Amino acid sequence: MSAHPPLGSGADFAADPDGLIWALRRLLEARTRPGSPHPDPSVALDLPERLPVDGCGGRAALEALAGPVLDRASRLDHPGFLAHMDPPTPWPAWAAAQWTAATNQNLLHPDTAPVVRALEQRVVAWLAEGFCGMDGGHLVPGSTVGNLTALWAAREVAGATSVVASSAAHLSVAKSAHLLGMELVVVDVDERQRLRVDQLPADLSRAALVLTAGTVATGSIDPLDAGRDAAWRHMDAAWAGPLRFTRHADLLAGVEAADSLALSAHKWLYQPKESGLVLFADTARAHAALSFGSGYLAEPNIGLLGSRAAAAVPLAATLLAWGRSGLAARIEADVDIARQLARLVEADAGLELWAPPVTGVVNWRPRGADPRAVRDRLRGAWVSLCDIGGEQWFRSVAANPAADPGAVVAAVRAAW
Ligand SMILES: Cc1ncc(COP(=O)(O)O)c(C=O)c1O
Repeated sequence: MSAHPPLGSGADFAADPDGLIWALRRLLEARTRPGSPHPDPSVALDLPERLPVDGCGGRAALEALAGPVLDRASRLDHPGFLAHMDPPTPWPAWAAAQWTAATNQNLLHPDTAPVVRALEQRVVAWLAEGFCGMDGGHLVPGSTVGNLTALWAAREVAGATSVVASSAAHLSVAKSAHLLGMELVVVDVDERQRLRVDQLPADLSRAALVLTAGTVATGSIDPLDAGRDAAWRHMDAAWAGPLRFTRHADLLAGVEAADSLALSAHKWLYQPKESGLVLFADTARAHAALSFGSGYLAEPNIGLLGSRAAAAVPLAATLLAWGRSGLAARIEADVDIARQLARLVEADAGLELWAPPVTGVVNWRPRGADPRAVRDRLRGAWVSLCDIGGEQWFRSVAANPAADPGAVVAAVRAAW
């Protein structure tokens, strides 16, 4: 068959069933091989340096990409992968993501997305239930955009002129303050990386206070009832928010009493990127402040993005497939993995634990060895690195329910 179906015949956009089925089989074949938690990044990309004048056709294009994209991907589902806040994703989400790519609906336009806009609102409502003070919101590509959107609302709705956050807050908070022209006030943390309430400014009446539920480096939880007198209280629950659906929900007590909340679905809701939510206590008011109309729009554009994808579809597929109990079981399995790793570290005199993990993030290191050098020698396992108070630590985020902490500790022992 020609690589080039006749243009304008419709055939050039019609699916090639054989090609699609081949692509799916190739994916499955790659996923059932063991793979590596950290493939060699120095392998050269075997692709043309310049955009070819003539295309090679869909099947050949995918064959060229299969090696770099599928075979040489870091396997987030590998028993040795205990590194970042990036989980393996479930197959219904893969399939649903394929559907959204094929239908290419744009949430900006009711015309192109007549039903998935309502689907998004349904998914938002399912998740807002876990944070009972929130009455709605919308999907965002992640918590970087979620934090920026929420702080924008704080400025517009509550007249906040400053952003107050701890020194352990995610960099997106400082980025947001910078973009929004708001003053950034950084508050010290205690020995467990939690915001020190006694260091809060006395007057928060023009402040958007950001409290983090699960800090990026250590998974610490700020005192979530702090700063009740702030003009606006935003909870950055990017990582630990989904604990609300588990038997560990009480860890986040107070998170629901906020004006806004950000959560990354591509972290502990096991979604493909880019998927997250920004929720509001008074969505109508927040959305009104973040709405812009234009002559070409049937409805005002709410939030930061213009055109945006139907990330709600993979999320809905996952939540329906698992239900609340299935989601809880997976997150709870991850929490148990983190605790198991912490116990193994504590039991090994050659290893040091920073502190018992609170939300599935374990910080640890070999005693008397440079963590980075040991990490770089790891085989068959992978951990990330972070700086805590000027010192290097391993950071093992339990986002992979297939992780084997024993295998990770054994790999570290073999590497130093
Ligand atoms: C606490 C916290 N806030 C915000 C973010 C940013 O989220 P995203 O990567 O989804 O944009 C992260 C990412 O790790 C995070 O840990």
